[in-house]
Amino acid sequence: MRLGRIRKAGFQRHFQRGLRLWVISGGCNLDGKAVNWRGRCSSTYKISSNNEDGYNDMPSGTNSSRRLFGLTVRQNAHPDMRRLRREAGDPSLHGNKFWKSSCLIMDYLKRNPLQQGARVLDLGCGWGLGGIFCAKHFDAKVTGLDADPSVFPFLEYHAELNGVAVKTWRCYYERVRKQDLAGFDAVIGTDICFWDKLEEPLYNLTRRAMQAGVGRVVLADPGRSPFRRLAERAADKLDATYCEWRVSRPMAASGCLMIAEQR
Ligand SMILES: C[S@@+](CC[C@H](N)C(=O)[O-])C[C@H]1O[C@@H](n2cnc3c(N)ncnc32)[C@H](O)[C@@H]1O
Repeated sequence: MRLGRIRKAGFQRHFQRGLRLWVISGGCNLDGKAVNWRGRCSSTYKISSNNEDGYNDMPSGTNSSRRLFGLTVRQNAHPDMRRLRREAGDPSLHGNKFWKSSCLIMDYLKRNPLQQGARVLDLGCGWGLGGIFCAKHFDAKVTGLDADPSVFPFLEYHAELNGVAVKTWRCYYERVRKQDLAGFDAVIGTDICFWDKLEEPLYNLTRRAMQAGVGRVVLADPGRSPFRRLAERAADKLDATYCEWRVSRPMAASGCLMIAEQR
């Protein structure tokens, strides 16, 4: 284990052997039109055949599936993803693929597990792999929240492919109320603070989650400046932990984590 400089007391309990981290600093707002309705995808998506090891289950050279942290993840070139894009349309707010920051949160959660059966809200879920990981490994009751409903067929597909069920909720971050958050034990989000205007609503959501008694909020990011500013603010005002995180296997990914917890 290589520990870097530690920003917050009590930080070490997050870390175990085999990972490298550095500590850093960092700051977002949203003016999009809000909608606030809950929706669930009920359709079932036909899934093409899948190997148990799940890696490159397509003819050699096509590389259209991979196996990550016990999950099978399709790549955009997979015929099922092409079909979903034809049927459901292209996601419009960057929820158009699996983003590598999900690996950071999966690695963190593998080392710092949630309680079995935890109720988890996956913010800006996109294809939903972070939440699906929680459902698979912690038997978590997961809700995937996203402003863009066209991501939900991709989430539903991957949930089914990995043998779990995940609820979906179409909502913007700033419309998530304290009383909604009180129904969750953990809130996660990967690669969701990618515009300056997202800093404010995500910081405020994190603060509301803490006020609502959510046990842990964990956000991961490749290290974009809006996320860094959000994490720095959460470290200063909410006593959150803000650190760099790197994963080399099964896929190389690096970035940072913000972890806010009830103390
Ligand atoms: C870069 S993608 C990340 C998707 C997924 N978390 C991952 O790591 O693969 C960002 C996601 O946030 C969603 N999103 C963007 N702005 C949002 C907002 N204001 N409220 C809710 N979801 C939002 C997008 O629709 C998209 O699915």
